[in-house]
Amino acid sequence: MSRTVIRGGLVITASDEMHADVLIEDGRVAALAASGTPAAASWTADHTIDATGKYVIPGGVDAHTHMELPFGGTFASDTFETGTRAAAWGGTTTIIDFAVQSVGRPLREGLDTWNAKADGRCAIDYGFHMIVSDVNEETLKEMDLLVEEGVTSFKQFMAYPGVFYSDDGQILRAMQRSADNGGLIMMHAENGIAIDVLVAQALARGETDPRFHGEVRKALLEAEATHRAIKLAQVAGAPLYVVHVSATEAVAELARARDEGLNVFGETCPQYLFLSTDNLAEPDFEGAKYVCSTPLRPREHQAALWKGLRTNDLQVVSTDHCPFCFTGQKDLGRGDFSKIPNGLPGVENRMDLLHQAVLDGHITRRRWIEIACATPARMFGLYGKKGTVAPGADADIVIYDPQAEQVMSAATHHMNVDYSAYEGKRVTGRVDTVLSRGEFVITDREFTGRAGHGVYTPRSTCQYLN
Ligand code: URP
Ligand code: ZN
Ligand code: ZN
Ligand code: ZN
Repeated sequence: MSRTVIRGGLVITASDEMHADVLIEDGRVAALAASGTPAAASWTADHTIDATGKYVIPGGVDAHTHMELPFGGTFASDTFETGTRAAAWGGTTTIIDFAVQSVGRPLREGLDTWNAKADGRCAIDYGFHMIVSDVNEETLKEMDLLVEEGVTSFKQFMAYPGVFYSDDGQILRAMQRSADNGGLIMMHAENGIAIDVLVAQALARGETDPRFHGEVRKALLEAEATHRAIKLAQVAGAPLYVVHVSATEAVAELARARDEGLNVFGETCPQYLFLSTDNLAEPDFEGAKYVCSTPLRPREHQAALWKGLRTNDLQVVSTDHCPFCFTGQKDLGRGDFSKIPNGLPGVENRMDLLHQAVLDGHITRRRWIEIACATPARMFGLYGKKGTVAPGADADIVIYDPQAEQVMSAATHHMNVDYSAYEGKRVTGRVDTVLSRGEFVITDREFTGRAGHGVYTPRSTCQYLN
């Protein structure tokens, strides 16, 4: 039996802060005891971590990543190997990635493909959501089986006609099914039919620069789709989780639905909290680095997102990590913004940016852990095992230095992408050491993990319903 003790740190969970030592046995948290007490002093161990002056926090749970996603004629540039290694560097110990159903093919085939990509390559544990691109009798039956197997959430798209798009009938049917089988529908809420009209009109006017991506994908069309998704979920009697919320008007739709008592949840991402249309407007095609959907919004929207995170109208911050290199990938859209592959890198940056948000006074320390670790675990059926530091939980633990300063940069990050969305940004706080099921993945800022340590982790149904 291997034993590790973490001594002298401030343990922070979504509900508590305490100066406590943590005993780890065989990959799980065995006990916590107040530092300096005889109980804690009596523990012997093979490895002792001195966490004096540091935070001891649950490993981050990033519920929205796209490693190796095929998109717009290319693939997201992080593999499961490089992407999970970068995640660990940033203090994230679990990702939930999206397996994709190809139109006309079974869900199972997509899931098998994604399992094969990830198997044996991940540095940290992982699970899958399923992107449902084609709702039919067979897919609906498969959803039941997937829920039983631990793939308990399904993403649908109101955007990207001809690719991932589902119409309202398909959405309603999948929601009705999830109301029965306990699955959670995750919605990409943008009116893609209307957006495609605006894209064609913009291009016809010669508006081809990256900034027009932000102009045609209007906040009102995010709000409209969010409203429609909520009403469809209400008709189906199903819970709903809206991904990558970026617009004030969309947060308002979620808030209204929650005030009515509906099980409606919202996720936002660091890029919407820290970046804006100013970035999309950077000259010399640099704006392409910031093309994602939903798009970055004018800076004024950030206040509504922070408020939503404080009032729990938004519950989760995930990254939507979907990196494409500036050279060779984002390039595909020179002269036509609609051909720029959509997505931003960020899996390595989330925990640090949200810690900076604590220092900036947007959220409390415990709320940081709640939105980045505990609630994503609860939302997607991993809580107890992931998302907290408590007896019985997996020892997925980060020793976090709240005083270390760092400058975010592509020159020092570990994501397999040639730019940082936060190049030059100074933040205070940095990961020192990361344990995944008790194994040292990052040790005093050195990678000591290995591809294949991370295992597929089946999930229960949502643990966050009213
Ligand atoms: O731009 C984005 N978000 N790319 C990833 C795919 C998605 O819609 O989440
Ligand atoms: Zn050892
Ligand atoms: Zn999406
Ligand atoms: Zn995504």
